[in-house]
Amino acid sequence: GAPYPVFTRQEVGRHRSLAERVWVTYGREVFDITDFVELHPGGKSKILLAAGGALEPFWAMYAVHSQAHVLEILQAYKVGEL
Ligand code: HEM
Repeated sequence: GAPYPVFTRQEVGRHRSLAERVWVTYGREVFDITDFVELHPGGKSKILLAAGGALEPFWAMYAVHSQAHVLEILQAYKVGEL
């Protein structure tokens, strides 16, 4: 497939609210999860804690995300790479 655009962590960090759109990273991948925020089974306030940064510290605390179906959801929102 076509290469993804490359973003810096600083650029990802500018997307921390629904108005600015909500971006997160996982590994070296960048996701725009704005449209998933309201669908999150763990609630809107929890998922927004990761807005603009890395998912790893939060997913380390909530092992419910260590499942293939969760990563599949995430992949659908990929917009770039670091
Ligand atoms: C549950 C996805 C970020 C906290 C879930 C579930 C999915 C999901 C699919 C249901 C899993 C299952 O029961 O099989 C995602 C995605 C995220 C994200 C795609 C990021 C893009 C976060 C963050 C937090 C969080 C950052 C915490 C700060 C939780 C909690 C649950 C949950 C507490 C359990 C809800 C319950 O069963 O009562 N998440 N999540 N999630 N998530 Fe997330």
